[in-house]
Amino acid sequence: MSTKTFQVPSQANHAVNVSDDPHRVIATYAEWANTYDQTLSPENYVGPRLSVEEVTRLIPESRRSQVRILDVGAGTGKVGIELIQRGFTQIDGLEPCKEMLDILKATKVYQNTYLEFIGLGSSTVPSDTYDVVIVVGCMGKGHIPVEGIDEMIRMTKPGGYVVNVTREEVLQVPLYKDKLKPHMDKLEREGKWKQDTWKICPKFIGDRRGLVFSYRVL
Ligand SMILES: C[S@@+](CC[C@H](N)C(=O)[O-])C[C@H]1O[C@@H](n2cnc3c(N)ncnc32)[C@H](O)[C@@H]1O
Repeated sequence: MSTKTFQVPSQANHAVNVSDDPHRVIATYAEWANTYDQTLSPENYVGPRLSVEEVTRLIPESRRSQVRILDVGAGTGKVGIELIQRGFTQIDGLEPCKEMLDILKATKVYQNTYLEFIGLGSSTVPSDTYDVVIVVGCMGKGHIPVEGIDEMIRMTKPGGYVVNVTREEVLQVPLYKDKLKPHMDKLEREGKWKQDTWKICPKFIGDRRGLVFSYRVL
């Protein structure tokens, strides 16, 4: 068994700590976009693979070409590339950084794309549309706020799933600490969704632990 460990690339730490201002966060991704895929390889960043493993657990192989998936905070399209390799074909992407989205479009894996934020106000994404909304590595300072969760539920069809994979440590940032899980629990008490998975993974990026959660929308 390999004992090799990987550090978190400095650009990734910078992006999740740079600012509380979402527009400054996006400017940081714009600067990083051209080298993002070289910086984050399948060796040091397993978030996309973990998320797609969770989706394949939820969606049987026979349904994979029929389900509609929205990749939120899709970046350069790493999650879509993993999805298509496992038989998913109807993949849309939402990403507020144009420079990242341009690279994503060049993958030719995504059908519709939305150049917009989630959780910060108006949205052009229709309601009750997706069988799976997937979010990977989009939590941190100035990233998707708690309100983004309500939006993910709105975009998902009843019976569909929201799957989110993130660094575990980001739950401690003020945007989420004592807010995110209580809000998610409140939505569960209100009958909006039901928890399916909540688990810690030993690695998400570099040597940092990941959190995988999935909820079924009711
Ligand atoms: C670390 S990247 C992850 C990209 C991709 N999911 C991946 O795993 O490679 C975080 C992404 O979240 C996006 N992002 C940040 N705030 C967002 C928001 N409020 N709504 C949607 N996306 C957001 C950024 O533009 C960036 O592309």
